[in-house]
Amino acid sequence: MSRETTETYCCGILTISDKGSRGERQDTSGPQLREQLGAAGPYIISKYAIVADDPTAITATLTNWCDRQGLDLILTTGGTGVSPSDQTPETTRPLLDKEIPGISEMMRMASFQKTAHAVLSRGVAGIRKRCLIINLPGSERAARENLETILPGLAHAIYKIKGGSKDCGS
Ligand code: MTE
Repeated sequence: MSRETTETYCCGILTISDKGSRGERQDTSGPQLREQLGAAGPYIISKYAIVADDPTAITATLTNWCDRQGLDLILTTGGTGVSPSDQTPETTRPLLDKEIPGISEMMRMASFQKTAHAVLSRGVAGIRKRCLIINLPGSERAARENLETILPGLAHAIYKIKGGSKDCGS
């Protein structure tokens, strides 16, 4: 069996929401992602948090989880849209060493088959150190649909980011 198929990956789910962080709205997208990712196989969800749409809080959590906790994957949910409070993409982008535009493009393209509002999600995806960070939109439905789209390629992406050397076609 190859290393890719036997490895497990440590993951964090970060919900980004002013109301969620104040306890004024129940977070349903974070738990949705947690369940969906956990059921998908090689993923252990070791971190989960809710922060406000606040660049300082978002940056502190993402850098802690990547740089000190050594997570392999972080999914954020929320704050990708066009409301004045939405800060997720512009806070995430400068933290990335390499952007992977195809992940976000594929999510928007697949989502557009379901809703024209898909174009309003400005989420980004990319690599910081050896960690893959992906912004997903914030509703439970949007988070589920977007994760569904990228799940088939996710384990291979993380494997390669961590330095896996198996050929991509094998
Ligand atoms: N993508 C999918 N697949 N399904 C959805 O319901 N909602 C859209 C979009 N992407 C949606 C979606 C809507 S209504 C918005 S405003 C944007 O995601 C941004 O969401 P966010 O600001 O909660 O991150």
